Amino acid sequence: MAAAALAMSYKQEQREHYDTKAELKRLKDKYDYFWPRKIMMLFGAPGAGKGTQGPNITKTLGLPQLSTGDMLREAVSHGTPLGIKAQEAMASGSLVTDDLVIGIISDRIQEPDCGAGFILDGFPRTIAQAEALDELLIQTGERVNLILAFEVPEDVLEERICGRWMHKGSGRSYHVKFNPPKAMKLDAKQVPITGTMNDDETGEALYQRADDTKSALVKRLSDYNNLTTPLLDHYDKAHIVKRINGGLPIKQVTSQVMLAMSKKHMKH
Ligand code: AP5
Repeated sequence: MAAAALAMSYKQEQREHYDTKAELKRLKDKYDYFWPRKIMMLFGAPGAGKGTQGPNITKTLGLPQLSTGDMLREAVSHGTPLGIKAQEAMASGSLVTDDLVIGIISDRIQEPDCGAGFILDGFPRTIAQAEALDELLIQTGERVNLILAFEVPEDVLEERICGRWMHKGSGRSYHVKFNPPKAMKLDAKQVPITGTMNDDETGEALYQRADDTKSALVKRLSDYNNLTTPLLDHYDKAHIVKRINGGLPIKQVTSQVMLAMSKKHMKH
């Protein structure tokens, strides 16, 4: 008798578990279908911390980080037609053409993992790209809801860029001084030993980007100041830009990012 009662209560628990799961799925489907997506943008100069902070946001909100730089590097490493077109401009620190990046972003934001929203990293970078993005989003009644603008003094950027090591598979970025991988060992001259520069999570080898040089940085910064910074005026009018002091240590920048995303930061 006791066994029968136990079996019944187990079945009841299972039914409740399935009901809860079904209810959660129904709610998720409803939000995916009717509610506007959370569309965020990480804005800042090369080395400002977009690639460093993005993964924290992904972890917190579950939204994918869409880095046009990562997508282009992937295309270059696979030698796809897109990669072949982008390779030369990227290595010299120049922007690739607007039509290429607009094309990859317009396809990417329709993927199922963007159903609840996405984080743009490195797009848009020109007025033409910003206008194309507005046009794309208007078609579904959406718009960018939040821009985190990382402000970092220019003299800090060179050290950040020249000391950076990246993990190809995830886009995770490390720094020999500010964010070293756990396995890093230095030689007698205090230079990192390449074989020890491995990703913390996968143990795979890290690499240095072809455009992470002093000379390419000059071009990247000049394009950022001349072509990309003016976009903030465009978005400031919509009151969606939150400024972040990106010159502070990584953890302090993360705290600002989390606060800027919270409702506490909203004006009532
Ligand atoms: P992309 O990959 O977008 O490069 P970027 O904009 O130059 O930005 P970075 O990745 O260099 O900077 P980040 O802010 O992510 O820095 P990170 O967090 O890693 O673009 C590359 C190229 O692709 C372009 O030049 C262009 O050719 C092409 N491209 C891409 N998008 C395009 C578009 N829309 N249109 C046209 N062309 C396009 O940080 C840097 C280092 O600093 C790391 O080592 C990190 O560990 C360290 N660090 C980060 N935060 C801190 C901190 N608070 N304190 C100390 N160290 C820190």
